[in-house]
Amino acid sequence: MHPPTQNKVLMAVLHIPDQGRTLSDFAEVKEYLADIGIGYEIWKPTFEIDRESTNEQILEAFANEIETLKKQGGYQAADVINLFPDTPNLEPMLARFSKEHWHDEDEIRFITAGRGVFHIRPKDGSPVVALQVEEGDLARVPAGTWHWFDLCSDRRIRAIRLFQDPSGWTPHYTDSGKDAGYMPLCLGLDFIPPQLQQL
Ligand SMILES: [Fe+2]
Repeated sequence: MHPPTQNKVLMAVLHIPDQGRTLSDFAEVKEYLADIGIGYEIWKPTFEIDRESTNEQILEAFANEIETLKKQGGYQAADVINLFPDTPNLEPMLARFSKEHWHDEDEIRFITAGRGVFHIRPKDGSPVVALQVEEGDLARVPAGTWHWFDLCSDRRIRAIRLFQDPSGWTPHYTDSGKDAGYMPLCLGLDFIPPQLQQL
């Protein structure tokens, strides 16, 4: 058994569907993603945050990490997005990002509640990967990266976003159709694929 403080580390989930592989060790996931240009970290808040926390409190809890990232990536602004199943126009909003696209800006998401799945299609021809992100996970998808994003079946996410220029942050679609070939499976919510049941 691992001590509770390590449980989060063990929750990293990276699927490589075309190979039927899943990486679940944080260091392994981080290294694999680094090789295809994707940043992945796990952050812990400086104080407890919960459902009642305001956006300002969330930004404050991660102020040091946000400052570091801003300096590293030239990000100018940070905000908090908070989506629930009954958020107005949720599905049309999600549909904008569930087709393969890229941005002229980096896409930075730090998850404070809920979960979702980033699919990344590396331009070097290596297999599509599905990174499941949830509370504590930071994903950095550099500008120009082909990717798409889905929420899990609980339709819930709260995340800090960082921007170089919020006004320029729009999706450019590849229209490759590749997104249609991959199901956004979320471990622990939708179902556990048979190959994972023994892990
Ligand atoms: Fe995106």
